[in-house]
Amino acid sequence: MTDRPTQHCIYCGRHLPDDSPAGQCPGCHGLLEIVHPSPTLRGGALARTFARSDAAGVAADKSSGVWRFRSIVHPSAQRVISWPEGNTPLLQRDRLCKYSGCDGLILKHEGMNPTGSFKDRGMTVAVTQAVRLQATAVGCASTGNTSASLAAYAALAGIPALVFVPEGQVALGKLTQTLAYGARTLVVRGDFDACLTLAREASDRLGVYLLNSINPWRLEGQKTIVLEALLQLGWDAPDWIALPAGNLGNTAAFGKAIKEAHEWGLIPRMPRLLLVQAEGASPFYRGFQSGFSERVKVKAETRATAIKIGDPASWDRGVAAIRLTRGVVTAVSDDEIMEAKAEIDAAGVGCEPASAASVAGVRQLVRTGEIRPSERVLAVLTGHVLKDPGILLWYHEELKPHPERANRPVEISPDIREVERFLRR
Ligand code: F0G
Repeated sequence: MTDRPTQHCIYCGRHLPDDSPAGQCPGCHGLLEIVHPSPTLRGGALARTFARSDAAGVAADKSSGVWRFRSIVHPSAQRVISWPEGNTPLLQRDRLCKYSGCDGLILKHEGMNPTGSFKDRGMTVAVTQAVRLQATAVGCASTGNTSASLAAYAALAGIPALVFVPEGQVALGKLTQTLAYGARTLVVRGDFDACLTLAREASDRLGVYLLNSINPWRLEGQKTIVLEALLQLGWDAPDWIALPAGNLGNTAAFGKAIKEAHEWGLIPRMPRLLLVQAEGASPFYRGFQSGFSERVKVKAETRATAIKIGDPASWDRGVAAIRLTRGVVTAVSDDEIMEAKAEIDAAGVGCEPASAASVAGVRQLVRTGEIRPSERVLAVLTGHVLKDPGILLWYHEELKPHPERANRPVEISPDIREVERFLRR
């Protein structure tokens, strides 16, 4: 083996060098995966290299929670484009343990990344690769978080960015970030799946370097959500890791992180993945129910716009991650998502709707007995509460009948008696 990673096609096994600009296998158009040379250090010795303050190397920002893992993420990176990102907290909240029924519930808040979602972890690595390849433009299709992140990192690198977003289906915080950071923004009269088809065509025909999660470098960065959580837990792996699933990029990244961490002796046993989809956008859940005998596509419908995806691009990588970890895929209703979100918000933590699916899914599996209350579950909150202010106003003010957890603002005249009357109610 060389000391540089290679890119492998997951279907035909073809190898490409790590500086190939191909977005997919040039032979069979399959998805590519980064294969790292086996590290010379293993187990505790390898883990200790991540704790070293100079682990990020000369060029990288030492405070990045992604580049700390440089040797198993992107060892041949040169000019690193880092915000910096990562180093997100683990949280434990009694209210949410009680709500989910799981005493050992731990949250990893990826909304605490620079643009407010986990996408920054993938984007720092993929934009670093784009700079290495001297890409003239970068692009993506997005339900909003990827585009916000891509726009910020492209601005940091000084590369023009082109994004495709579905009309009327992107939360306000995400669209405004994308515009603010300066990406050329095409609002497509269609859904996310149509945007992704268009983005792939733009990549083929116009030479735009595609930074959707089909790009294998994105997944290398997103692996660090799991690696960082394991490091924070002293390499004592939880029983389960729960996450919302849309295009399945994160699922693929988590599966790869768990596989490598196990192979390289960082953890003695693998946590199980729990993927949670919104009922109206649950092709992967349906596939899981039939043992993945066929690839399912649906017309997606959910208020959790981040995961409103009917034809997940990383389907096969997702199947591999579920099989490897003896994972479970489930689906929850929009009402369950909004209720879990209201609980997470009222706990003072806050997250966007799609993120709350992970906690709603844990609650469901505790109720069905698949997760025991004493098990340790790491639930990933993927995005910040301010990503989707529109849905908060809808839930707390407009939705009728008012949900039990609605916190309705009350309008008054500037008169202290009205304040007293309000407090007496
Ligand atoms: N949670 C949030 C907040 C997301 O933005 C996404 C995906 C997911 C979960 C699902 O992750 O697609 O890897 O399965 N957002 C993408 C975007 C599609 O364009 O921002 P996935």
